[in-house]
Amino acid sequence: MSLFAIGDLHLHFQSECPAPMQKTDPVWRNHTQKLAANCARLMSDDDTLILLGDHSWGKNLTQCQRDFQYIMDLPGRKILLRGNHDQFWDVGHTARLNVCYAGKLFFLQNNFAVYRDYALVGTKGACFEGPFYLDKKGRIRDWDHASEAKAEALVRREITRLRLSFEAARASGYNRFLMFLHYPPTNLLERTSAFTALAEEYGAHQVVYAHSHGEAVYHSSIEGNFRSIDYSLVSGDYLRWIPKKLLD
Ligand SMILES: [Fe+2]
Ligand SMILES: [Fe+2]
Repeated sequence: MSLFAIGDLHLHFQSECPAPMQKTDPVWRNHTQKLAANCARLMSDDDTLILLGDHSWGKNLTQCQRDFQYIMDLPGRKILLRGNHDQFWDVGHTARLNVCYAGKLFFLQNNFAVYRDYALVGTKGACFEGPFYLDKKGRIRDWDHASEAKAEALVRREITRLRLSFEAARASGYNRFLMFLHYPPTNLLERTSAFTALAEEYGAHQVVYAHSHGEAVYHSSIEGNFRSIDYSLVSGDYLRWIPKKLLD
């Protein structure tokens, strides 16, 4: 029995793909076949797979049905986190999604899941992604302060949601945590953030995140062990569609 993670499948079996990168970058060529083959090779039905958001380009549940079927056909238990492109997922309707897909998919938001003696908590997260203004040598000289203020408001909301999940897990007797975010926990300007502080406050063992696509941004947040917590990026293109094993 093992726990695996990968994010950003950006499926579009029934919808338009608006991302040029997905059409031109070789890493995305046949990515659904590559991921299915890697999951079949590495995983079995008693494993758990966390999918860290940006599941589908579908604009509503109807446009996501074949994408969900693809995910359901992967081996093991599937737990889904909300990404910034998941338009089908109204945060107020998470409980309804969990009723509709009971026994097939679990939607992780304002709740928690369990793996062995760990509570798995997660939310979309948020971080200021710019725009940044660079000098001739590519160094950041300034940034859009209005966008930064908006991002800070989103961070506060997401921290509230995440704290609810930690507290719900704690109230149920769990004190070992893995924390999942769609967005990276820090941006280019930060070494720490409200998310790293929350992970430290609850003693999370790992912080796992996705969302970053392309070589230019793969290494823009925390990786490896930082203040006794393991951080890892698991966006699908970064992992070359090989799910990362988090725990045995
Ligand atoms: Fe994405
Ligand atoms: Fe994203």
